[in-house]
Amino acid sequence: MAAGAARRDPGSGGERRILCVGLVCLDIISVVEAYPPEDSDTRCLSQRWQRGGNASNSCTVLALLGAPVSFMGSLAPGHAADFIVADFRRRGVDVSHVAWQPRGDVPCACCVVSAASGSRTIVLYDTNLPDVTARDFEKVDLSRFKWIHWEARNVAEQVEMIRRVERHNRSRGAGERVRISVEVEKPRQELLELLGLGEVVFISKDLAQHFGYSSAPEALRGLRSRVQPRATMICAWAEAGADAMGPDGEILHSDAFPPETVVDTLGAGDTFNAAVIFALSEGKSLQEALTFGCRIAGKKCGIQGFDGLV
Ligand code: ADP
Ligand code: FRU
Repeated sequence: MAAGAARRDPGSGGERRILCVGLVCLDIISVVEAYPPEDSDTRCLSQRWQRGGNASNSCTVLALLGAPVSFMGSLAPGHAADFIVADFRRRGVDVSHVAWQPRGDVPCACCVVSAASGSRTIVLYDTNLPDVTARDFEKVDLSRFKWIHWEARNVAEQVEMIRRVERHNRSRGAGERVRISVEVEKPRQELLELLGLGEVVFISKDLAQHFGYSSAPEALRGLRSRVQPRATMICAWAEAGADAMGPDGEILHSDAFPPETVVDTLGAGDTFNAAVIFALSEGKSLQEALTFGCRIAGKKCGIQGFDGLV
């Protein structure tokens, strides 16, 4: 067990936790010298299995930063799930809210990381494992959490989950409310409804480009009408760092913190989101959170995987 894991035992009560809801998958990662041509047959420099998925990666980083953190997503029993659960435990991430599915395959991604550029090319198989439902989410004791983050997936169900948290918050004092964040990464029409929910809304570069925006500030201005009036929007833009817009409409910016050599950008966005959530949940300002997010994400780009990030 990792040194900090006992301290972060989910059963120990006390400190309220952060919950991330979304995908966990198995990433089979080949690190190549340079990205191979199509239909070629080459050797890679190294290969590893890694627990992946946006919400799952964000849990890893939150745990490394020292937050008590829980993951909620679907798994189906088998070798891949055994590997994944062991890895969550190694990082001290609570898995008691995993929705175990009687049928379906654990999602698996083949990832090619180019050591020359740090680029990551992902092919994800994620088709037949049912997602967490609002009914599963009813079992979550909301009083144990200070922050719940959703990665947009099965949005109709996720909207119901968020509505439940909003109802819970209405009858609570400020210090007991659960803060809500959402991430819309994939440019799929059905995911856009989630932009209209949540106090903190992460918008990916991919989504922004899909809407025709060519920078983060442009995207924030253009998508503002889609989020709640009091929401904070955050948009990361790889080497260009990240921008945010709070309820006052002012745009804040942080440059990226490029490492000496960019070797692995797989999960850079998930790292950024986790670091921003961590900082905001600790009471830091939006500017501080943005800068911290870029600093930690930059560091991640300079190492393979997440070991040694913090
Ligand atoms: P994603 O993994 O979702 O594609 P992004 O590429 O938008 O995420 O990156 C998220 C954050 O990671 C950026 O805001 C930046 O701080 C950092 N980052 C990503 N790529 C680089 C890079 N090449 N150099 C430095 N920082 C980077
Ligand atoms: C990185 C990641 C990988 C996973 C893929 C799923 O952001 O979560 O770990 O294979 O994206 O889309």
